[in-house]
Amino acid sequence: MARILITSALPYINGVKHMGNLAGSMLPADVYARAMRLLGHDVLYICATDEHGTPAELAAQQAGMDVAAYCDAMHDAQAGAGAQFDLSYDYFGRSSAPSNHALTQHFAHVLEAQDLIYEKVSKQVYSNADGRFLPDRYVEGTCPNCEFDGARGDQCDNCGKLLDPVDLINPYSAVSGSKDVEIRETNHLYLRQSALSDRLRDWVDASEGWPPLATSIAKKWLDEGLRDRAITRDLSWGVPVTDANGKPRAGFEDKVFYVWFDAPIAYIAATQDWAVKTGGDWEPYWKTDAGANDTQYVQFMGKDNVAFHTLSFPTTLIGSGEPWKLVDSLKAFNWVTWYGGKFSTSQKRGVFMDQAIDIAPSDNWRWHLMANAPEGDDAAFTWEEFAVSVNSDLANVLGNFVNRITKYTASKFDGRIPAGGVNTEHEAWIIAELETRIPALIAHYEAREFRKAMEQTRAIWAAGNEYLTRAAPWSLYKTDVDAAAVGVRAGLNLAALFGIIAQPIIPNAADKILSALGVPQSNRSWDFGDIAGLINALPEGTAIKAPDVLFTKIEESDIAEWTAQYGGGQDKA
Ligand code: MF3
Ligand code: ZN
Repeated sequence: MARILITSALPYINGVKHMGNLAGSMLPADVYARAMRLLGHDVLYICATDEHGTPAELAAQQAGMDVAAYCDAMHDAQAGAGAQFDLSYDYFGRSSAPSNHALTQHFAHVLEAQDLIYEKVSKQVYSNADGRFLPDRYVEGTCPNCEFDGARGDQCDNCGKLLDPVDLINPYSAVSGSKDVEIRETNHLYLRQSALSDRLRDWVDASEGWPPLATSIAKKWLDEGLRDRAITRDLSWGVPVTDANGKPRAGFEDKVFYVWFDAPIAYIAATQDWAVKTGGDWEPYWKTDAGANDTQYVQFMGKDNVAFHTLSFPTTLIGSGEPWKLVDSLKAFNWVTWYGGKFSTSQKRGVFMDQAIDIAPSDNWRWHLMANAPEGDDAAFTWEEFAVSVNSDLANVLGNFVNRITKYTASKFDGRIPAGGVNTEHEAWIIAELETRIPALIAHYEAREFRKAMEQTRAIWAAGNEYLTRAAPWSLYKTDVDAAAVGVRAGLNLAALFGIIAQPIIPNAADKILSALGVPQSNRSWDFGDIAGLINALPEGTAIKAPDVLFTKIEESDIAEWTAQYGGGQDKA
């Protein structure tokens, strides 16, 4: 049994997330957390809303709300959406919490004491019309590299080059569109990342359990040479910059820490808040002098977050000179696309979590998104593929199996798990299947290979169907009730097993199946000692029920309706 800390990238506060965000961080983290709990590990799954920065200020302004009140409302909305998708956070915190203010300021102080922070005046774009400095991505203009017209100040989406907004040709404010912008000088705190390159490279080289996507992104940045980064901004909403006495730092009264400096620190602060709420102890998760070397720390995120988690945040932790725990395994995902294009709220393309739950139950989404996890490459969402996942995998392969065997038991065996008969070559066949497939399934979960885990889950369900075809208790029943009982008993036990292995992915359907078969909570763990015994595990004579409808099939007309409402293949980006 291991102690496992799991975090998923903190969803940004400015709106309920779309299904691509869910699929690329929170959902796989949840599925992994559930699987590890079932294997008996001591799991802590932490997430939070990422609340600071310009996008939060602008979204609040647009909503006509005070930014703090906006964040309160959106935090609740995101917590609610997470609950609807059965995300089993042990704690869902907030980067705006007092704990995170204190810890962010603490890190800045110790980094400065280590000579890793210095002040530097730089030039930045100020918008007279907006009355504010514009963060890099809110300045747009012509790319100095490829002359693309809509380049953002931080990066050109056309040629991919990282940019400095002051280098844009014909810059304008992306907030208001105003061209009345000027370059002003401003003083900021800089983190001397360059001083830590060698230590970061050693750490990246020594890492195990990172997918190639994560390692290659980290190495690319190291090879390009780590640049020192400003960790403060000219904004009012964020963590205030303090001096060593906790007073506002002279000259920084109108500045706050950069959102990417404080957000990852909130992983730790949210763990502290979890500890306060539950009476738990946060240090064994985060302090290597308090047992954190025995903790396995796994992070989940989209690929755009990798550099921050492999370089910036580790710079904060290592540079502090304090014994902080670094990530052990990092699972990075590519994008889920909408029919090959981008999700877009403004262009009504794609589905957001609050809409999705009205379209189909959480289980259907969870299964489909995990079975098509964007692991090796980007993965396109389409309504047509969604329907295949639901209709074929869930309704036909799993749902029909459970319905058929439980209904047959009700009609021919008095609704009880039958005794009698002796095992034949058919039972030997399914046992052999399970003996290879169950360990493979667990290994895929342990390796965080979600597509493979879903394929194996589906293969186990399919093997159960194949078993019933071979054993054919319905034909045996006419001549030999005892022989039929063997197949029915094994079938019911297989239905229970299917529910047990489905729990991390489709927790609601799994619970319905297991409750219908009378499997108590205490017998639902993944403690598969004797696999051969699995087809005789349920106590004979136990009364069972047929579960209510497990999955509702998706019709052509549903697809047509959703396509009209949320977009589809006809408007590819
Ligand atoms: N809010 C960021 C995003 O949506 C992720 C922040 S992850 C953290 O891309 F490490 F900063 F917390
Ligand atoms: Zn360009």
